[in-house]
Amino acid sequence: MKINAKTKLCVVIGDPVEDSLSPQIHNAGYEELGIDDRFVYAACRISPAALADFVRGAKAMNIRGICSKMPHKLEIMRYLDEIDPVAKTIGAVNTVVNDSGRLTGYNTDWIGIVTPLEALASLKGKRVALLGAGGAARAAAYGVVKRGAELTIYNRTLEKAQLLADQFGGTARPLDDLAAIKSMDIIINNTSVGVPLSQNETPLPQEFITPNHIVFDAVYASGPTRLLREAKQRGAKVIPGTEMLLHQGMEQFRLFTGREAPEEAMRGAFLAALDSRENE
Ligand code: ATR
Repeated sequence: MKINAKTKLCVVIGDPVEDSLSPQIHNAGYEELGIDDRFVYAACRISPAALADFVRGAKAMNIRGICSKMPHKLEIMRYLDEIDPVAKTIGAVNTVVNDSGRLTGYNTDWIGIVTPLEALASLKGKRVALLGAGGAARAAAYGVVKRGAELTIYNRTLEKAQLLADQFGGTARPLDDLAAIKSMDIIINNTSVGVPLSQNETPLPQEFITPNHIVFDAVYASGPTRLLREAKQRGAKVIPGTEMLLHQGMEQFRLFTGREAPEEAMRGAFLAALDSRENE
């Protein structure tokens, strides 16, 4: 790292934020492209009460980019000069770009969902089962519908699934009415069931999983969830939540630096950082 007066600072903010591996992932990308003298990425714990001051300070310091994690993804929208229409539709901002004091909010979470899926198959015309209807599920619903998939949303609270279906297009079903999933192509878990790993829970009993499925556990965990282990045993293709985080971060990297993100270097740094944390 070669920090000098013109080095642009990017910051991930959350509360807590200590567990975020975004600094390792992005800094590895800067090094790989040889731009680590121009960009540096740090983590900063910001409480909800301090958010307004932080954003003001970010403008004053000319911080280049902000990655907003929970609990700031909704609240930060109040402090921005502009919000990208996609972020407005999803209703949350996870990425803020500062152009000479003008702050624009984006949402890259939906790209973290569609890119890993489309690396395996086109989403067009595919039948997607989305488990969950919270904040994270909104980005997934937006993304898969935008890419032409046919969406069914399963949620414990049916009313919330119905709200998402009404907004993004699709059908709502309760989480205990899973039979139709067997004939679908893709299953995305955006419920929090399965994390922490120690609880060994799954949102989807394994008898509903077939070898024809692609199963994406979009919820980030430091190792394979029970859902992913069972899906693999049953012959399905699986995508771990680390891919969601990597690809939303790669899009954020592009917005902050104007450069394509070096995928392998960033994935390598991410998985190595996860490993070393597990072994601490
Ligand atoms: P996030 O922002 O991470 O999506 P969230 O908005 O709290 O978090 O959403 C959590 C999702 O996990 C919701 O879909 C929630 O279902 P409800 O809408 O019925 O609350 C789902 N969820 C959480 N715990 C669950 C459980 N034990 N069983 C089934 N679904 C659960």
